[in-house]
Amino acid sequence: MRTLFVTGGAGFIGSEFIRQAIGNYRIINYDKLTYAGNLDNLASVAGNPGYSLVVGDVCDANAVAAALPEDCDGIVHFAAESHVDRSILSAEEFVRTNVLGTQVMLDVARHRKVKRFLHISTDEVGGDMPPNGWFQEDDALRPNSPYAASKTAAEHFVRAAARTFGIDTVITRTSNNYGPYQFPEKLLPLAISNALEDRPIPVYGDGLQIRDWVHVTDNCRALVAVFERGRAGETYHIGGGHPMPNIDVLKLLLKTLSKPESLLTSVTDRLGHDRRYAVDFTRTTRELGWRPEIPFDEGLRATVDWYRTNAEWVRRCRSGEYRAYYENMYGEREATARSL
Ligand code: NAD
Ligand code: DAU
Repeated sequence: MRTLFVTGGAGFIGSEFIRQAIGNYRIINYDKLTYAGNLDNLASVAGNPGYSLVVGDVCDANAVAAALPEDCDGIVHFAAESHVDRSILSAEEFVRTNVLGTQVMLDVARHRKVKRFLHISTDEVGGDMPPNGWFQEDDALRPNSPYAASKTAAEHFVRAAARTFGIDTVITRTSNNYGPYQFPEKLLPLAISNALEDRPIPVYGDGLQIRDWVHVTDNCRALVAVFERGRAGETYHIGGGHPMPNIDVLKLLLKTLSKPESLLTSVTDRLGHDRRYAVDFTRTTRELGWRPEIPFDEGLRATVDWYRTNAEWVRRCRSGEYRAYYENMYGEREATARSL
């Protein structure tokens, strides 16, 4: 069986990738367990003999090299600071993890002759799309938030490593993912968990910003296809195919939950807020035969059901109990300091 070294596998998308891939690969999950890393997400694979966890930082080259197995078939690099609002409050950790961390991972991949490096990027690197524009893989990158700027810089280092050192790299750029196990700071899990408790849902600005929602299961199917069959040096887009204004998404959510629209509460807009993202994933469909299979209304209903059924998961996130593993390792005060 082939071996994958997955960074950031305790997060939202990385954990879904591991749950999907574990039958076909041996997986080492290398994760720092920041506030976004949650081992509850991996409870279903924790006892699998093909799965192991190493707690470590992608910026620490020695620790990465020590954890990387001989003859590694691939690195799947998810680890990142992922929340735009946090990057506006402070960009430092985004530069460190997303840029330096990616370069460290590339260096280790090169020295250890890892066979393939899959870098997980985002549609946000393309910046605002005009009303009828669709982001193409070869378009210029125009990031507008510190988060997007850090992901853009990371992509440039991946490209440079492929060209300069001949590393076999593939890049994916995904639109907004949704589904189970997403940390309740992001729009949909926040809105679902607030609505279930009849609490207000914050709508930034006029709510007319457009995002393209893709179910995390569809996204991870695409990631496997790109890893297996993508052309070396190439970039592949992954999207849901139906960009929607936030306000329409939230109204559909409230209808699904039979909750009143009066829960929607307009709040101050995000600084520099991009108005519209829309990725064209024609290349991914044409070359790899992938397309999203979960219609948004169905995926949203299933996601709502998951959050309803897994209220305990949300409670542990909100109370901080999910970090017990980390606190046992480092002590409570240290764990809190590290998570700030
Ligand atoms: P997440 O925030 O849920 O998880 C990030 C994971 O990375 C966590 O487990 C965290 O502990 C780990 N991590 C953070 N810093 C680390 C470090 N220095 N060393 C090792 N591990 C570290 O993120 P996500 O939403 O699952 O996103 C995963 C990747 O996909 C990111 O690269 C993100 O930019 C990209 N992406 C996300 C979306 C989305 O909608 N969520 C869309 C497009 C692209
Ligand atoms: O597009 C891909 C990106 O999607 C990923 O690269 C990021 O890692 C991921 O966090 C996500 O970024 P967004 O900023 O689009 O996601 P977020 O859930 O934070 O916000 C979605 C939209 O909803 C955005 O227009 C801001 C708005 N919003 C968000 C929150 C948290 C609100 O109106 N209210 C909120 O409370």
